[in-house]
Amino acid sequence: MQTYLRGRDLITTQEWRKEEIETLLDVAFDLKRKRALGQPHAYLRDKVLAMLFFFTSTRTRASFEAGMAQLGGHAAFIESRTTQISHGDTAKEIGEILGRYFDGIAIRQCDWGVGNRYIREVADASRVPVLNMQCDIYHPFQILADLMTIIEKKGDPRGKTITVSWAYASSYQKPLSVPQSLILLMTRFGMNVRLVHPPEYKLMPDIVEQAAENARKHGGSLELMDDFDAGFKDADVVYPKSWGCWLTTEDPEESARIGQKYTDWIADERRMALAKPDAIYMHCLPADRNIEVTDGVIDGPQSVVYDEAENRLHVQKAAMALTMA
Ligand code: CP
Repeated sequence: MQTYLRGRDLITTQEWRKEEIETLLDVAFDLKRKRALGQPHAYLRDKVLAMLFFFTSTRTRASFEAGMAQLGGHAAFIESRTTQISHGDTAKEIGEILGRYFDGIAIRQCDWGVGNRYIREVADASRVPVLNMQCDIYHPFQILADLMTIIEKKGDPRGKTITVSWAYASSYQKPLSVPQSLILLMTRFGMNVRLVHPPEYKLMPDIVEQAAENARKHGGSLELMDDFDAGFKDADVVYPKSWGCWLTTEDPEESARIGQKYTDWIADERRMALAKPDAIYMHCLPADRNIEVTDGVIDGPQSVVYDEAENRLHVQKAAMALTMA
């Protein structure tokens, strides 16, 4: 166990050692148990978290805000458009100034080629920990909640097969942050990871290489596939979700045209039946219902999406308690 994590940023799980992540999960399970028992756990009394959003959110905002209150502190919601950022406040100024008011700064900035750089500039200037609430490259808290859910449902993740697959959606060009963070973390916990997508939907080559290296070090595997049905076959965990073809085009119209070739990439009952009988269906939400996944699958007995969403609360409380105390 690594227990001294005060002041640490959490921008990607890759920057936390495996035993530090195990500590975070251990604390998350403890906090979940305490909440279930109604036991007080005000580890962050009088502490305040700034939550700076450049993009919409349901789960992330609600779970960070509820989590800070349950830890005895407060979370301040700051929507970027209501700040002076568009009138000149730089990332360095945000880090310097918010770091003097708050005990932690959480940021969601998902713009392609911008988000991660912005969060790192704030972190460089901040005297308090910076937490990544999702950027263009990583979504660490989603994936920590996903790992917690897999452990709850499947036990030891080592040797289990998880399929991280692209699926069609029409709503918007989603970031690469969820699939990239999934392949990075699940390979460190010994899972056999299948990454499945059409050719235009590649992830960042550097991230795929890091995931392959993680698999080599930790005894799992990373397999790249382009057959949606084959990805489901005999999997323990299926995680089909949409992402944008950012490495192919940043033009939304061209992206929509490319997506039209793959509208049959929907997670449906026939495909779920290809996975193991006790396989679980995961999705970070929001999902494009009956486009990306059928109602029958997302509302069906194999879906764990609500437990997955709940676990956001517990892992985030663990991270805040460990880094902001
Ligand atoms: N999964 C997730 O991050 O949800 P929100 O976009 O609603 O925060």
